[in-house]
Amino acid sequence: MNLSDANLDLSAFWMPFTANKDFKASPRLLRSASGMYYQSVDGRQILDGTAGLWCVNAGHCVPRIVAAIRQVVDELDYAPSFQMGHPSAFTLASRLIEFANHRFDKVFYTNSGSESVDTALKMALAYHRVRGDAARTRLIGRERGYHGVGFGGISVGGIVSNRKYFGPLLSGVDHMPHTHDLKRNAFSRGQPEHGAELADELERIVTLHDASTIAAVIVEPVAGSTGVLVPPKGYLERLRAICDRHGILLIFDEVITGYGRLGTPFATDFFNVEPDIIATAKGLSNGAVPMGAVLVKEHIYEAFMSGSHAPAGGIELFHGYTYSGHPLACAAAMATLDEYREAKLLENARNLAPYWEEALHRLEGAPWVVDLRNLGLIGAIELEPRAKTPGARAAEVFRRAFDAGLMVRYTGETIALSPPLIIEKSQIDQIFSMLGEILRSIS
Ligand SMILES: Cc1ncc(COP(=O)(O)O)c(C=O)c1O
Repeated sequence: MNLSDANLDLSAFWMPFTANKDFKASPRLLRSASGMYYQSVDGRQILDGTAGLWCVNAGHCVPRIVAAIRQVVDELDYAPSFQMGHPSAFTLASRLIEFANHRFDKVFYTNSGSESVDTALKMALAYHRVRGDAARTRLIGRERGYHGVGFGGISVGGIVSNRKYFGPLLSGVDHMPHTHDLKRNAFSRGQPEHGAELADELERIVTLHDASTIAAVIVEPVAGSTGVLVPPKGYLERLRAICDRHGILLIFDEVITGYGRLGTPFATDFFNVEPDIIATAKGLSNGAVPMGAVLVKEHIYEAFMSGSHAPAGGIELFHGYTYSGHPLACAAAMATLDEYREAKLLENARNLAPYWEEALHRLEGAPWVVDLRNLGLIGAIELEPRAKTPGARAAEVFRRAFDAGLMVRYTGETIALSPPLIIEKSQIDQIFSMLGEILRSIS
């Protein structure tokens, strides 16, 4: 690559979730961004097919978001949220409850998806304890789940590489099976028909451990990081029913499904299945300033205020972050919510979802394609693995796409797509025609 910063030293930055040696031998560097596009340091336009890392839902460098951040940094660079506050953290919380259609009642701020997940898990454990039900300490996740990189998140997560290097993790965790079923569901449009019965595995796990030991179940309503796994019809409803039957809290990790990705505020609105807690981040602040938020129903908060075993006075929840409710993040998030509303982005996502689905599924029959999956403005193309190097084909598509001016993600043998919600039909056409061409050109 011809770097315009000729003296740029790449050696000191230990890059996250990156093959550092490969990257540094052949870097991909971004200089600026606007709307649907990045510009690379070598001056190329790159169509953003992934909203950065599933976070820039309103498109890049939205003037109202940039202006809001600029304005606040001049006035209030930082304010603690422990035992004091600043007005916009409270206003944003009220606005988030409104955005969530009042399905939730209280908001706890974090700085990332990983922190939101660990916060939700800790809340669930403490919730049972403050109600006098302290034996409920088990957490149930799912194979192929991704819940960030904190110890809580990797414990309930189900990605082997993210777990195996890091010791015994949290104790008292069990996993349900994942719902990916190529044999029965390949090339489903939207939610697949088969697999609702996999939720009954939770019933088996409850029988094994006894409900009185289980605090919470956590799932991504649509799993993203392990290749876009759309829940089978009826699956989430069954999970909810089993949790209800046994007094188990249900947590949705909405870090990628939140803030319009499915054309609704959250996946809970899309599926009409209500968890007790949702973990969110990413699209909350359009990626412009790191921020996460955990939204909970009243009964969770209330247990900490007046549960039989709640602290008698003083702090109710011994948890929080120095940057919880950071003024810059609050400003970015409020401007992001304004942008979602003013630019009608959720409507746009909803209206474009059928076009997106149609364009994606035209790749059926293209070389190497063994499955196509979609929901809202999420898409996935699963490829046949190369015999000796699983994952290499998808990695090649990713590299070629970047070189040709298109940003996609890959995970295992799946290409994942999640464009900004401002995308237009012509750009959808461009994404899938470029990918079709690349698939026809590789071995
Ligand atoms: C479902 C889900 N949960 C949690 C996270 C972690 O978020 P972060 O990288 O902001 O910590 C991610 C990130 O992609 C995610 O997809």
